[in-house]
Amino acid sequence: MPVSHHALHAPVSLPDDSIAAAGQELAESAWIDVIQRMDEVYSELVASQETLETKHRELAEAHHFTEGVLAAMTDVLIVCDTVGKVRQVNRAMLQLTGRPENALVGCDLTELVQDSQAQQQIANLLAAGRSDMQDVEIALPRQQGEPVPVTWNVSPLYDGEGRYSGFVAVGRPVGELKRAYAQLQAAHQALKSAQAQLVQAEKMASLGRLVAGVAHELNNPISFVLGNAHAMQRYAGKLTRYLNALHANDLSPENQALRIELKIDRLIADLPSLSAGLMEGAERSGHIVDALKRFSAVEENTRQRVDLADLTQRAVHWVSRAAPFRVDILNTGLDTPAWVCGSANQLQQVLVNLIQNAFDAIEKTRNPRLELTINRQGQNVELQLHDNGSGISEEALPLIFDPFFTTKPIGKGTGLGLSISYGIVERHGGQLSADNHPAGGACFTLSLPAFTG
Ligand SMILES: Nc1ncnc2c1ncn2[C@@H]1O[C@H](COP(=O)(O)OP(=O)(O)OP(=O)(O)O)[C@@H](O)[C@H]1O
Ligand SMILES: [Mg+2]
Repeated sequence: MPVSHHALHAPVSLPDDSIAAAGQELAESAWIDVIQRMDEVYSELVASQETLETKHRELAEAHHFTEGVLAAMTDVLIVCDTVGKVRQVNRAMLQLTGRPENALVGCDLTELVQDSQAQQQIANLLAAGRSDMQDVEIALPRQQGEPVPVTWNVSPLYDGEGRYSGFVAVGRPVGELKRAYAQLQAAHQALKSAQAQLVQAEKMASLGRLVAGVAHELNNPISFVLGNAHAMQRYAGKLTRYLNALHANDLSPENQALRIELKIDRLIADLPSLSAGLMEGAERSGHIVDALKRFSAVEENTRQRVDLADLTQRAVHWVSRAAPFRVDILNTGLDTPAWVCGSANQLQQVLVNLIQNAFDAIEKTRNPRLELTINRQGQNVELQLHDNGSGISEEALPLIFDPFFTTKPIGKGTGLGLSISYGIVERHGGQLSADNHPAGGACFTLSLPAFTG
């Protein structure tokens, strides 16, 4: 505020006396001196006051600016003294912790965290002093909700004289970042598996067309081999009867010689096993063609309500009946219905194949065991089959769903079981995957959409 100093120039009245004229003059000049001095002092005072006011304004602006910056920061900030007492926090810190400023300022840094590990980290930080400040990750507890993991960047703080006076910790909550990263990873994983499925589906589709053609071509010759083998079997029976009737009577010596030369008796004895072998071969070829046809079948998906738990138990029943050894079956979640949507016949085929494969895998295991677990997971029903066989080798793992891939001896496996099952499950909108279990043995997971009515 400007200071008025006109009052200082008020006229000074002196006695009008000639004797004292000289003295008066002297006194007057002294007064003028004093007044001038005072004037100068006042001017200086006014100038200093103005400077002071400007400085004060600048200081207030700087203060507001700093306050604004601190408030605008989304990262949390804590300023501490050398022993770890909180001197200042910013608004982000209040928001994150959900605590008022007076509950934070003045307290010990260790009081802000919960677990002993975090307290130890802070103690280490304080012990290291300004010499070795490192970035740390310490979770901050909140008034409401889970603690938030925060990465802290810690730097020493120096006062105006350059003395170490504590430290400033700026933290960024990484919970969001971690969640986003996990989501990204899950999306990446889903994309990878979708891509793998697409490749597999494309492989299946082209193989399906090829196999359908082959199956179609083979079907005719096999059916007449089979038909003729049946006729031959009947004819052989009749011819045998006829020849045996002839041989019961005396044959002419030439015919007798011919009978011996052509080893007719051995031929007759061989005929039944020959025709049985022929039939079996023809039938087996017929089965393979059937399987091929099923593999490429575009059979429409009958959408019924199917109990996967019941279906699994029935499949186990049939496979165990045919197995020459006993298997420990451990069921979890199979005692209550697990409704899925699809064709009971086709799903039965998938289950029999998976269970048969498991039985084949544990045939030589000391205590053969198969664990079956059904989980109902929201929109899906998941069946896990974990056997204690020797598992699937790393080389075989990417190939087992390929048609004709088998490690079983010729005549035992066609290598079509899993590829057919894969196709069926896919047409049901589900997924079939295989892996080795950490505890050993193979683990197949079948996931199907739950029946929703
Ligand atoms: N539970 C399992 N443990 C170890 N290997 C397995 C298991 N299930 C399948 N496999 C491997 O996958 C291969 C392919 O199985 P897939 O069912 O397609 O054909 P297969 O059983 O050999 O013949 P098919 O089913 O036609 O009789 C098997 O030969 C085997 O090597
Ligand atoms: Mg199989």
